[in-house]
Amino acid sequence: MRKLKTTRVAASVSRASRKRSAAKPVRPLPALSDADQFLLPTYKRSPIVFTHGRGAYVFDSAGKKYLDFLGGIAVNALGHAHPRIVMTIRRESGRAIHLSNLFHNEFQGPLARKLAEWSGLDRVFFANSGSEAIDGALKLARLCGRPAEGATANARAKTRILAMTNSFHGRTFGALSVTATKKYRAPFEPLVPGVEFVEFNDVADLESKFDDTVCAIILEPIQGEGGIYAVSEEFWERARALATKHSALLIADEIQCGLGRTGRHFAYQKFSSMPDIAVIAKPLAAGLPLGAILTNNAAASRVSPGLHGTTFGGGPMVCAVALEFLKIVEDQKLLQNVRARGQETRAGLEKLKSKVDFIKEVRGEGCMFGVELSIEGGPFVAEALKRGLLINCTHDFTIRLLPPFLITRAQVREFLQRFEKILSETPRVVPAADSSSSKTPMPAAMSAVATASRSHIKR
Ligand SMILES: Cc1ncc(COP(=O)(O)O)c(C=O)c1O
Repeated sequence: MRKLKTTRVAASVSRASRKRSAAKPVRPLPALSDADQFLLPTYKRSPIVFTHGRGAYVFDSAGKKYLDFLGGIAVNALGHAHPRIVMTIRRESGRAIHLSNLFHNEFQGPLARKLAEWSGLDRVFFANSGSEAIDGALKLARLCGRPAEGATANARAKTRILAMTNSFHGRTFGALSVTATKKYRAPFEPLVPGVEFVEFNDVADLESKFDDTVCAIILEPIQGEGGIYAVSEEFWERARALATKHSALLIADEIQCGLGRTGRHFAYQKFSSMPDIAVIAKPLAAGLPLGAILTNNAAASRVSPGLHGTTFGGGPMVCAVALEFLKIVEDQKLLQNVRARGQETRAGLEKLKSKVDFIKEVRGEGCMFGVELSIEGGPFVAEALKRGLLINCTHDFTIRLLPPFLITRAQVREFLQRFEKILSETPRVVPAADSSSSKTPMPAAMSAVATASRSHIKR
């Protein structure tokens, strides 16, 4: 098959196009100017204001339509404005949005029951976000690592937590402490002590670091922010066996890969053994903020009133919406759809890989894919946005795809056609330092791009 070629664009061309676009006066929207003036600059955002969505499409303030293969970073599993979710929010917001965890509400218990059925775990704590739920799970692990009441006097608390290289668990202090990415951690150190990183999927490294001082091992069954890397069966089963042997907890962070994204209720369900704790959030309440810690009875038995809590977590409206989300996944048989559309996406991406010389690898399943490039993915993401396709890029080189669970066959086809055109037609400006005669030292990232350009463009 014909290999697509990347395009090299002269600086003069982009100068000319800059001049053309500079001629059009653009009136900034108040949403943009206010954001510029009043928000903390924690995000590098495109100057687009999205106003609404419907199904797998979102629309901006100019009325432009985008196919959404980012799904609010794995949150919008039902796409946008699902009628049953809209109806539930309308109904419950007129009844009780918040009551407080000092009292029962109608939906928390039934939602916990449903999550126990889906996960095979026993008890649930509701939080507000993924990070908060991860912090709670780590606290629970430390609690379980303490000698139980009545233990012998020389029993010592186990406090070490093993986490994975290339992991991401969130931005609060606890979650950040088990997150590997240096640039997220370094400005805030010292973080929570007692965390040690194990090389992801390296069984020998795991075995060398696991002993009786470990209270928990935390891992993502499929690393999301890290670039869609699945934990191997061998590593998972060894982690399970070592956790059992040393009375430590195996914590599965299913915040990105869980609740149906793989076509299973939980990503760990492809293995024969269970975690002690699973942590979920993102799609749980169809876009409203809700996270949860799911635990087995053994870990739950160490918890007593007052040890942990939250004001907002598990409010009536958000739990009603989450319950509706889970029911929709069942009623609309969305797990089957995720599996079928996932196979079509995978086949299409593999075909694309055979045509595009800078696709290194396709990873993932269901509605969660990483397309690893040998060149930086940023320009393709920007071009996709211009052409009405939402995708993003993790770790600079992996295009991440997180479409909604109700994506149709036609939309998968539409995505594949548009993605192929974007990969083949996006101009890439090769840095000046690419010139072999240049003596200018290149920053590592630039040098990686230049090297990739030399070795992968077939001319
Ligand atoms: C695997 C994983 N864990 C934890 C988090 C943190 O969740 P939140 O942003 O809701 O705090 C994320 C967010 O991207 C995630 O992907």
